[in-house]
Amino acid sequence: MQSIMCSSWRCGWRFSINLPSVLRVRPASINASSTNIDHVLHVPVMAEDVLHGLNPQPGQTFIDMTFGAGGITRSILEASPDTTVFTLDRDPLAHSLSCDMAQKYPGRVVSMLGKFSELPGLLKERNKSQNSIDGIIFDLGCSSMQLDYAERGFSLSKDGPLDMRMDGSRFPEQPTAADVLAHIDEEDLFRIIRIYGEEKRARKIARAVTECRYTFRNLRRTFELKELVAAACENENRMDKLQRSAHSATKTFQALRIFVNNELNELNYALILSHMYLKVGGKIATLTFHSLEDRIVKRHFVGNVIENSMDPLPLQYSNHSIVHDKKFVDNIIDSKWKLVNKHVIVPSDEEVQQNPRSRSAKLRVAVKLK
Ligand SMILES: C[S@@+](CC[C@H](N)C(=O)[O-])C[C@H]1O[C@@H](n2cnc3c(N)ncnc32)[C@H](O)[C@@H]1O
Repeated sequence: MQSIMCSSWRCGWRFSINLPSVLRVRPASINASSTNIDHVLHVPVMAEDVLHGLNPQPGQTFIDMTFGAGGITRSILEASPDTTVFTLDRDPLAHSLSCDMAQKYPGRVVSMLGKFSELPGLLKERNKSQNSIDGIIFDLGCSSMQLDYAERGFSLSKDGPLDMRMDGSRFPEQPTAADVLAHIDEEDLFRIIRIYGEEKRARKIARAVTECRYTFRNLRRTFELKELVAAACENENRMDKLQRSAHSATKTFQALRIFVNNELNELNYALILSHMYLKVGGKIATLTFHSLEDRIVKRHFVGNVIENSMDPLPLQYSNHSIVHDKKFVDNIIDSKWKLVNKHVIVPSDEEVQQNPRSRSAKLRVAVKLK
């Protein structure tokens, strides 16, 4: 049985997970056996459309940049014999699931633990060179495993430490969401919430957080932040795209998560890397879940990449370096992608009803032309 340890000295919790214990925190209605764990931990969004876009052929090699629970990798492995999938995920739990899958599909799954920006080193260790990959997949955002497990600190509906690091404790120096909130100044926090959360009440929320530091204590728990934001927004009623009520802290949580994980810089760099590793004629499929991600993807596919366009925010509160390398950026500006579909592909009404997480998904598929 695969077992992993996730711990954080920063927020005072330490826990050890093996897969059955993860399943114990799943809703009671989910009754997984150890043979189909990866099916129930995360329901892949638009898996058939992704597969149709990539059209895997026997002998081809893919990279699943966001393995999660492996739904999309599995569909590629099942669709065509003899395909190989290099899987990447920064989350140690996802990586452990990929190692499990590698045992079920001997010789066809190569599991890699790391961020997008670590890809070149990981592929080099595995003797994989540039221009050698047939297809690359991005299914962005958080997995249900991350959202559903309160200790990870992503969830608005379960109280937990304000962590939000997708990497778990891989980088002990990486600030958690609580660390950011404890140290950031009001103006910078305002910009993060405004830009990464597209939150109209960002000013009020940033003020409430910084005032709370002086009058109360640092925010350490997700529910503390959720309640503070709700109060700053005067408990305003909001609706999501399905006209269901949405909590007023949803966008603030999104903003912090993006910042803590440096998500947009990672994505921008990953698209540059994808171009480098795909063969001419190779395909890329991207599933985005909010307009910030989608804008970056669109810019790449129409050849409009601006150096450092993604770092308007105060990186001094994170331990992330700016991952852009001028050499790579110059490379991509010249490169060409061709979109396979004229219009973006969205999930069917039926899929949205069955899996509300898919409601904001946008799929784009492009071919590397040169
Ligand atoms: C929506 S889930 C993917 C779900 C997956 N397609 C499936 O079918 O189960 C997104 C995953 O991407 C991973 N991820 C997000 N940003 C990443 C990055 N910069 N580097 C590596 N993995 C990342 C997250 O840890 C998460 O597990």
